[in-house]
Amino acid sequence: MEHEHNKNNWSSQLGFLLAAAGSSIGLGNIWRFPYMTGTNGGGIFVLIYFLVVLLIGVPLMMAEISLGRAAGANPVRAFAHLTPAKSGFTVFTASMLLLGALFMLLTGNPAGALIVGLIGALFLACGWKTVGFFCGLVPIILLSYYGVIGGWTLVYIVDSIRGVNGFTTIEGAEKVMQPILHATGHWKWIVIGGQLAFMAACLGISLAGVQKGIERWSKVLMPLLFILMCVLIVRGLTLPGAMKGIRFFLEPDVSKITGGSVIAAVGQAFFTLSLGMGIMLTYGSYLDRKSDITKATLGVIGLDTLAAVMAGIAIFPAVFAMGFAPSSGPDLTFKVLPAAFNMIPGGMGVIWNVLFFLMLAIAALTSAISLIEPPASILVGEFRMSRKAAVLLVVLVCSVLGVFCALSMADWINLPAIGRAVGKIWYGKAPGSFFEMLDSFCCNWILPMLGLATTIYVGWVWGSRYALKELREGSSGFLDNSIWLLLAGFKAKDGGKDRRYLLTPGILWGVALRWICPLLVLLAFFNCIGIIKF
Ligand code: ALA
Repeated sequence: MEHEHNKNNWSSQLGFLLAAAGSSIGLGNIWRFPYMTGTNGGGIFVLIYFLVVLLIGVPLMMAEISLGRAAGANPVRAFAHLTPAKSGFTVFTASMLLLGALFMLLTGNPAGALIVGLIGALFLACGWKTVGFFCGLVPIILLSYYGVIGGWTLVYIVDSIRGVNGFTTIEGAEKVMQPILHATGHWKWIVIGGQLAFMAACLGISLAGVQKGIERWSKVLMPLLFILMCVLIVRGLTLPGAMKGIRFFLEPDVSKITGGSVIAAVGQAFFTLSLGMGIMLTYGSYLDRKSDITKATLGVIGLDTLAAVMAGIAIFPAVFAMGFAPSSGPDLTFKVLPAAFNMIPGGMGVIWNVLFFLMLAIAALTSAISLIEPPASILVGEFRMSRKAAVLLVVLVCSVLGVFCALSMADWINLPAIGRAVGKIWYGKAPGSFFEMLDSFCCNWILPMLGLATTIYVGWVWGSRYALKELREGSSGFLDNSIWLLLAGFKAKDGGKDRRYLLTPGILWGVALRWICPLLVLLAFFNCIGIIKF
């Protein structure tokens, strides 16, 4: 089987692990996870999120990487390389989608009808390749607003050096954050400038290529991130009243579960683990056959979860110690942590602030560059573009879209006409902002949908048997050991002559991929749209 990216491989398993961890660990952990936890009921959200990571995240990441490596191609080709792209199933799914679109149109939801109808038509024409196309499209949308938050981090670094971020109260934090969030007055140019500078940094790293760019930078930047998080945790835990924050973060209150919080936990898991957006698939296609996919997946997910927990422990004590509302939304991290740093005795706030926002910028960069990869690899593989031209085009499109996001992070104040137009097709009322619209549409709907499609494709169409064969390549036999032997700390040979173990990690993975993942994602959808309630 010819490998599409022979020049673009990782130098080692560690290089892949760090790059994949760099992709996963980003603003999703330090910026999005705390505010999603804050707006979705605290500890109960965290508990649901952990379950989703374990039951959906682990099997799906293994599936995405194995599909990428087996196909050795960009997401569009990957979905048409191992099996025919079209089948009776794709025609049936497309027909259902088109019928759904008709129903939506008749029940007064033209925006939904348009989106579902387009997806149905694409599915009819291209079969499974449609999933690959979306894996190229979604990262472009995500990166357009990701770049804005990345830009905020740069603005905060400069502002911290200038001494503007010296606030220690809610009012002070609001005063600094409001003009940035709403991009009012001359701040709109500063916010756009920050976003474009961030995108330029992504461009520089991505143009340097997979090994010299993404891999090299991830190896240096990721360890630095963890060291800084430890410092932040010590600061958070030594603030007066810190335990209240820890209780909010870790004590589940079942009465706070809503349909919205369940789907938000699913969306958060997909966002932070870079799943359902073609990244792990593309990174898998750069991976050699000697690497152990299972080990790498467990490493990436372990590190990502650790980073999210560390971010929560660093932020929530400070939120409560200083009387902030945990549900204040996307600007939570930007308001709380500088105030906490500024309260450290000895007047070192400036240094801590600069370090923290530098760390946030670094985490954002290693993720942002991974968002460029799926669309760029599609342009290279399917449209015969050079890597340089493809990366340039992706960054350009994301930067232009990002300007709209920058101007409409918190409301439609800078884009009133677009806000009114969206309002007309969006159930008669526009979502709070352009950012909110893109974020909830992508994370709560499209990412889980693409994840669902990937589990069905790998588990049922390509087939879990073949995917397991791929996973076994480079693996030390862990997948075929007995769970009981593993739990007992034995090796396979200690289990005696009978090797027909009924419960192995490989078998559990197959069951999770074919049944548990798709059913859980569907349940979360049905719960969110009110078809079932739990
Ligand atoms: N997975 C990336 C993040 O968490 C997108 O920031």
